[in-house]
Amino acid sequence: MRLIFATNNAHKLDEVRAVVPTHIEILSLSDVQFLDELPETSGTIRGNALQKAETFFSRTGMNCFSDDTGLEVACLNGAPGVDTAFYSGSRDAVANNAKLLNNIAGFEDRSARFITVIACVIDGVSHLFEGEVKGKIGFSAEGTGGFGYDPVFIPDGYSQSFAALPPLVKQTISHRTRAVELFTAWLHDKTLK
Ligand code: IMP
Repeated sequence: MRLIFATNNAHKLDEVRAVVPTHIEILSLSDVQFLDELPETSGTIRGNALQKAETFFSRTGMNCFSDDTGLEVACLNGAPGVDTAFYSGSRDAVANNAKLLNNIAGFEDRSARFITVIACVIDGVSHLFEGEVKGKIGFSAEGTGGFGYDPVFIPDGYSQSFAALPPLVKQTISHRTRAVELFTAWLHDKTLK
């Protein structure tokens, strides 16, 4: 089976390819020469995931999936949430992490969660899968692995950030892995019927 992952983010592609069964071939947008930017204007994480997958399917007719991820911080009432990608006004991870650390300075409760919503469109029908990982925001950026907010996110049960932990830890417990596991279990079930 061949599915287009509606992204060109190399980190996401690696993370998803590592957990998807080998009989499912995952291609990126650039692998199929799709060069346009997909819209993410719905105002919610679920809505953005659906919007990307449905736009790609309506333009190409190819079975696909997309993901949208948000970081929700309790003391900020769920922010950055849908604004996670552009929290500082740009996509720059260092600036986003700096703004987050600054905004939560002084709060005792630093609990947070990552949520990933996967939207897939198979033969024109849309389906949603959600995964989360709970944790807390550290006091400074730590580690060089991963991407995005990984240097400031410490998953529950660990004392180091996703960026400082061995990659296998993130690969095993992450929001994206959990969503992909639900998605691939569903795909497996579907191909058996
Ligand atoms: P999107 O899913 O590409 O829209 O991601 C939204 C924002 O969340 C971007 O700033 C990403 O860098 C960040 N992000 C997405 N997935 C992860 C992750 O696994 N770890 C850390 N940050 C992430």
